[in-house]
Amino acid sequence: MVTLPTTLTRDAALALDAQSPLRGRRDLFTLPEGLVYLDGNSLGALPRSVPARVARVVGEEWGQGLIGSWNQAGWMELAGRVTARIGPLVGARGVDLHVGDSTTVSLFKVMVAACRLRPGREVVVVEPGTFPTDGYVADAVTRLLGLRQRWCDPADPAAALDEDVALLALTHVDFRTGAMFDLEALTAAAHRVGALVSWDLCHSAGAVPVDLAAADADFAVGCTYKYLNGGPGSPAFVYVAPRLQGDLDQPISGWMGHADPFAMERGFSPASGVRRMASGTPPVLALSALDAALEVFDGVEVADVRAASLSLTDYFIALVDARLGEVFEVVSPREPARRGSQVSLRHEQAYGVVQALIERGVVGDFRTPDIARFGFAPLYVRHVDVYDAVQQLVEVMSLEEYARPAYSTRNPVT
Ligand SMILES: Cc1ncc(COP(=O)(O)O)c(C=O)c1O
Repeated sequence: MVTLPTTLTRDAALALDAQSPLRGRRDLFTLPEGLVYLDGNSLGALPRSVPARVARVVGEEWGQGLIGSWNQAGWMELAGRVTARIGPLVGARGVDLHVGDSTTVSLFKVMVAACRLRPGREVVVVEPGTFPTDGYVADAVTRLLGLRQRWCDPADPAAALDEDVALLALTHVDFRTGAMFDLEALTAAAHRVGALVSWDLCHSAGAVPVDLAAADADFAVGCTYKYLNGGPGSPAFVYVAPRLQGDLDQPISGWMGHADPFAMERGFSPASGVRRMASGTPPVLALSALDAALEVFDGVEVADVRAASLSLTDYFIALVDARLGEVFEVVSPREPARRGSQVSLRHEQAYGVVQALIERGVVGDFRTPDIARFGFAPLYVRHVDVYDAVQQLVEVMSLEEYARPAYSTRNPVT
């Protein structure tokens, strides 16, 4: 039995929680009793306000109001309400966000539109460790537009930039390691060679401060089902810098991106502003759930979210070092400025480790080939959860539960 320093005891964890400016936010979520949920970086927890809102939209607005609800229930303004809530979390100013498609579709629209703004340039730079969908979309876009894809060195993406580059497409926080790029510095580096940048904010929005406007960012896309808790498959947001909106030519020009959708004109004239990123009918049920979910951020300072996130991840790393330092390699950056809101541990049998933990009521996830990944959603994860999770991890390792035969076959969704 290791004697832990007083800063790493369960009482110390409870004391940190009692001092947190975010204490009490957890009560805004429905979480199964006794579960330690460290997978909010995959699917955020359910905010309590969502079920009643969805029931009302379905039962009353759709069931009773029918078609009239597009006007009477404000369905047409719903996307705008949602973007107004997301704006402060990512440093958008309210007229530069669109929400409505999946992340993947949004990435496609953004990448095509960005490349069209840099005619004559042939290269899209992508980081090889990026989330697969980003790489697949970049490949599809380059084939479609007759361009070339160039992989960059994750340690120095700017080294791949030159005057041939139309677009640098990066994920801000790496989904495997939790390592975070310097968004402002890389945006400036791309601008110095005349290239544009698109940022994938899936693992940042709601957990890491991002100021797109201050960084003079060009484009960003982010999902809303992780730290923004919008529910499975909730629609993604897209950011387009106001200075680029006037010339924007996105590839799925549908009627909802038309300047006057109900004029039903034969020819397409794009809406002014970011609304031209829209394509089809807004997903009202999903947007309603997301709108209600975002209420958990009302009155929350992004700086407090970041402070809580770093405190949780620091605490987790310190406990793992103290109790399991010989067993796991901490893959995530130890330097706080380079760390998102997750910590990844490397172990040969990471799949079994994660499954055994789930059996014990601690939910993280596995990422191939050898990563056990733990996300710390600062609005509902507490230091005491971190303490309890590491205690369970110690037991999983000492009892070798990860080696159970049941864990030799992997589930398709891990
Ligand atoms: C960085 C990143 N981009 C994109 C996606 C997924 O895209 P979509 O929402 O279209 O499934 C994920 C999903 O985890 C992700 O982590």
